Amino acid sequence: MESMKRIFSVLVLSMIVMAHQTSAEESKGKDLINKVCTMSPSRDLCIQVLSSDPMKSPNANLKDLAIISLRVAANNASGILTDAKKLINDENLAPDVQQGLADCKETILDAQSQLDDTIAALLQDSQANAKVWLKAAFAAIDTCDASIPGDDDVLSVESVAFRKLCNISFTIVGLLAKPQLF
Ligand SMILES: *[C@@H]1O[C@H](CO)[C@@H](O)[C@H](O)[C@H]1NC(C)=O
Ligand SMILES: *[C@@H]1O[C@H](CO)[C@@H](O)[C@H](O)[C@H]1NC(C)=O
Repeated sequence: MESMKRIFSVLVLSMIVMAHQTSAEESKGKDLINKVCTMSPSRDLCIQVLSSDPMKSPNANLKDLAIISLRVAANNASGILTDAKKLINDENLAPDVQQGLADCKETILDAQSQLDDTIAALLQDSQANAKVWLKAAFAAIDTCDASIPGDDDVLSVESVAFRKLCNISFTIVGLLAKPQLF
């Protein structure tokens, strides 16, 4: 009888310890978003982006947040592509500007598919590949910037915003390599 009591109390004790550990380890949703975004250079944008999925955001883990941010960035790229297509059709543009826009459009299209590849890599739990694809997306944005002269035109401004979004994803993918932080 004594030994039964002892086993029982050990059991209860270990259950309490386990429950305590999981609640301490798994930060999720809003709490995790706040923690992650203090590490992003654009904190407010980061919170806005990561809270934008009404289904996933409230209970998101780190990987979910990475995917939410990548989807937002890929959508942003689609918007940029739409604007680039409109601009290219402007007949008043100088031929070199038109060529620059066309080149930029191609590279943003590349960046967009590299963001999809980043998501695919994360879904397979390959953070290393995710990083490689994201870096390729940054390189594509650089190429776009280099192909349009000046930096206050619509496309250059949009590319700065797009880069910020990719940078948020980059921060989170980096954190995925050290989940013990949370
Ligand atoms: C891209 O995202 C930025 C930052 O959220 C936003 O200001 C901009 O309007 C977006 N652009 C497009 C074309 O969706
Ligand atoms: C992200 O932004 C920070 C601050 O602006 C910058 O130092 C860093 O190089 C950026 N990361 C990438 C991969 O562009």
